[in-house]
Amino acid sequence: MGCHAEYAEGFKKTAHGRKFPLIKNIPLDKACETCHGPGSAHAAAAGDRNDPGFATIKHASKLPPADSAQLCLSCHKDNEVNYWGVSAHKQAGLSCVECHSVHQAKERKNLKVGTTETCLKCHKEQKIGLNLPSHHPIREGKITCAGCHNPHGGASGNLRAATAEELCFKCHAEKAGPFTYEHPPVVEDCSICHTPHGSLTDKLLKQRMPSLCLNCHKWPHTETANGQPAFYRTNKFYERGHCTNCHREIHGSDRKKSFIP
Ligand code: HEC
Ligand code: HEC
Ligand code: HEC
Ligand code: HEC
Ligand code: HEC
Ligand code: HEC
Ligand code: HEC
Ligand code: HEC
Ligand code: HEC
Repeated sequence: MGCHAEYAEGFKKTAHGRKFPLIKNIPLDKACETCHGPGSAHAAAAGDRNDPGFATIKHASKLPPADSAQLCLSCHKDNEVNYWGVSAHKQAGLSCVECHSVHQAKERKNLKVGTTETCLKCHKEQKIGLNLPSHHPIREGKITCAGCHNPHGGASGNLRAATAEELCFKCHAEKAGPFTYEHPPVVEDCSICHTPHGSLTDKLLKQRMPSLCLNCHKWPHTETANGQPAFYRTNKFYERGHCTNCHREIHGSDRKKSFIP
């Protein structure tokens, strides 16, 4: 700590610096060796790189990713990292310190930058999504990528739920039903109609109405005398074509089979 004051200061400011003494019973002046290994030979070398003792210190960020992660996992058995072993990030060769920093954490959770910013460094495609007119309020700071994804892996890819559908219900419970009159695609999979990251179309829809609906339904309401469906009060294409102007309870209804409130 005498030689690396800057690193020691950085360490002290994080949860590690505060909690090692309390939870792990490791006093601060012994903390360094938990990750860097025995340090006395390195310290005795006093900065002389020709002294064989100098190189005995473990350099956590230069270890192969799996060994580096093992350092962290020796203490971290939290549920949060349960699935690390099978995660896409591990398989892609990332280590914990790709996103976290022990000494230079500027954000909560030992992160180098904020949660969403961390993800966007690598995931450019989703960054494009965020800037489309319809998007989950991530830019606005209401939720983060980690609200839906566990960067350490999960039971289903790295989603924070067993299935994509259950994930949506965590925040949109009112869509879960059961309803007296279910709309089959809603029960099947929200992603038949919605995309999670961003869309040019309102309400994160994959396509505009009526095209979206006409994937499965024939153009309805054609069985009329004069070519004008009897219930139409208007001929305006938009109003007819925007199916949910009338079929408002599109996710299911307890009142009407037609989803018209
Ligand atoms: C929880 C594990 C851990 C602990 C405890 C820890 N370090 Fe580190 N140290 C790392 C990691 C990982 C890096 C790589 C950079 C980073 O993540 O901030 C690092 C980097 C360093 C570096 C920079 C090495 C270089 O040349 O880039 C120094 C110096 C250092 N640590 C000193 C210390 C000192 C002094 C302490 C005790 C106060 C300490 N470390 C405690 C994990 C740890
Ligand atoms: C000697 C045990 C130990 C090691 C090794 C260790 N940690 Fe921790 N870590 C802890 C403890 C204790 C806490 C505090 C937990 C708490 O507050 O309940 C913690 C907290 C954290 C947190 C949460 C910080 C916060 O602000 O809530 C992160 C992220 C973290 N560690 C990542 C890492 C990474 C990455 C490594 C490897 C470079 C690592 N840890 C190595 C014991 C360890
Ligand atoms: C791809 C980036 C990334 C990698 C790689 C990564 N993490 Fe994290 N980690 C995060 C983010 C982002 C958060 C904060 C999530 C949030 O905002 O709730 C986090 C949170 C944590 C927490 C705090 C959990 C809590 O509930 O407070 C721990 C502990 C942790 N990580 C440990 C690790 C360990 C150990 C590894 C390596 C095995 C690792 N992380 C690898 C991005 C990462
Ligand atoms: C250092 C680069 C890097 C960072 C930072 C990063 N990722 Fe990844 N991520 C990857 C790579 C590489 C893959 C695997 C290849 C791919 O699918 O693109 C991946 C895969 C994924 C996948 C696909 C998982 C699967 O099972 O197919 C998701 C989801 C994901 N990352 C989310 C996140 C989130 C959320 C964050 C921020 C907490 C994040 N990533 C941070 C590089 C990164
Ligand atoms: C509202 C929930 C939600 C949020 C917020 C979210 N995602 Fe996703 N993400 C999903 C779902 C659902 C999938 C599709 C998973 C599947 O079908 O297995 C997915 C898939 C992915 C994939 C895999 C490739 C793909 O497009 O299918 C990556 C990478 C990814 N997300 C990164 C991110 C990043 C980065 C952020 C933050 C900018 C983010 N996600 C925010 C729900 C979300
Ligand atoms: C972590 C919480 C969370 C999860 C999980 C989540 N959402 Fe959202 N969703 C939100 C928030 C917050 C809004 C914005 C609501 C508002 O501004 O009133 C939103 C808005 C929406 C909107 C309306 C967008 C618009 O342009 O008005 C749709 C559609 C949507 N979510 C679909 C989904 C789907 C599909 C899933 C599952 C893949 C999902 N959400 C998972 C939090 C979440
Ligand atoms: C058959 C297509 C379809 C499916 C499947 C679907 N939705 Fe929607 N959803 C829509 C349409 C269309 C709108 C826009 C309604 C409007 O603008 O009048 C919408 C709007 C939304 C909104 C924003 C407006 C509101 O009502 O709060 C949310 C949130 C939402 N859907 C969540 C979900 C969730 C969660 C699922 C899966 C359980 C799902 N949707 C499945 C078609 C669908
Ligand atoms: C993936 C296919 C699919 C998509 C996309 C879809 N639907 Fe459906 N919809 C169905 C199925 C299947 C039924 C049940 C049919 C039945 O009971 O005869 C249904 C039932 C309905 C009903 C009730 C029909 C009745 O008999 O009263 C209405 C109204 C309806 N859908 C409107 C829409 C609208 C509006 C959209 C676009 C926002 C849409 N649907 C998108 C498959 C779909
Ligand atoms: C101006 C209001 C209105 C609009 C716009 C509208 N509908 Fe309807 N729809 C109705 C009414 C009213 C019924 C009859 C309900 C009943 O029988 O209780 C109906 C019935 C249906 C039915 C079940 C009977 C049938 O004809 O198969 C389906 C499916 C349907 N609509 C789909 C759609 C789709 C898809 C769109 C968009 C292209 C759409 N509707 C636009 C009012 C509307």
